[in-house]
Amino acid sequence: MKGLILSGGKGTRLYPLTYTRAKQLIPVANKPVLVRVIETIREAGVTDIGIIIGQTGEEIKAAIGDGSQFNVKVTYIPQDEPRGLAHAVKTAEPFLRDEPFVMFLGDNVIQGGIAALIRDFSTHLDRWNSQIVLTPVDNPSAFGVAKLNPDGSIAQLIEKPKDPPSNLALVGIYMFDHHIFEAVNSITPSWRNEYEITDAIQWLITNGYTVVPHIHRGWWIDTGKRIDMLEANANVLDEIVPTVAPDVVIENSQIDRRVTLERGVRIVNSVVQGPAIIGEDTVIENSYVGPYTSIFHHVHISNCEVERSIILENSSICDLDVRLYGSLIGRNATVQKKDDKPKALTLNIGDHSNVWIR
Ligand code: DAU
Repeated sequence: MKGLILSGGKGTRLYPLTYTRAKQLIPVANKPVLVRVIETIREAGVTDIGIIIGQTGEEIKAAIGDGSQFNVKVTYIPQDEPRGLAHAVKTAEPFLRDEPFVMFLGDNVIQGGIAALIRDFSTHLDRWNSQIVLTPVDNPSAFGVAKLNPDGSIAQLIEKPKDPPSNLALVGIYMFDHHIFEAVNSITPSWRNEYEITDAIQWLITNGYTVVPHIHRGWWIDTGKRIDMLEANANVLDEIVPTVAPDVVIENSQIDRRVTLERGVRIVNSVVQGPAIIGEDTVIENSYVGPYTSIFHHVHISNCEVERSIILENSSICDLDVRLYGSLIGRNATVQKKDDKPKALTLNIGDHSNVWIR
């Protein structure tokens, strides 16, 4: 079995953060989503992994390398343009050849891993051509949606329907045998001018191939938007077993036991409530860090309150007398107060930004 991760695309829904960075490299609980995807696939026993890359390919290559740091073998597969998930599969055919494979969208985070799913698919390869994962969601129109028959088999799959026939969304994890290539070569572009994997799977069903649905009951998040990133961050932080590096310095501070402190962290006159993670060489002084916050490395937090937020490397948040809540702060950004004013602040700040609150 091979793995295929899709990390092309533009990430427009996470602008401004993704003007300067691949969305799959934004960390959730201080680990890039793409690394979480690689680890999830490896834990299921699949180590030969192709990664589809687009415009942000060089940055992805620099972060992931040949995969050896994660104990997998990575092959990069450039896609000329983000022309849809089915187009990405078509592009990957020379890498995948006749082998069954698991395809994982590089911006998806799922609870509980995929080992059981892969086992299930591998043991039914003589009868199953594809297995898809479905989960109930509140906003099905934003996803591919499945309508099931009374016996639980798939009646129909539709990409982002205006009038969804059910609340069962297609999760970005799919398993295929080689028949998928016939399907992706047979479909035409959708209304959004993309070759949809949903249409290719519908083609398999229409043409008599066996596609088996699996209903996922834990959490699953497509980290496409700020709010989803923060939710994924909260879910992952809830599950992390906290650790404290031996060289951290804590002075006159109160640190909850559900807080991970990485190497070189310094906390002075502050309160940190868990679950939270504080990255390498970050300094927190005279501040409050609330639950569900991930602060990456080399950040400086001084005289302020931060809660349920993600703050990326080398940023500095200083002298705010308003709590920073539900925010996503890019790399090398500065947020600093100038005079008095607002009561609450929600920010989505790109890399290298400077914000002065008056
Ligand atoms: O997240 C689940 C949803 O993912 C499914 O419910 C939908 O059926 C499926 O079409 C897909 O919808 P999105 O519109 O959210 O896909 P998005 O454009 O965000 O792309 C998902 C990932 O695939 C992302 O990491 C970028 C990558 N990608 C995307 C395209 C269009 C590629 O590598 N190549 C592409 O051509």
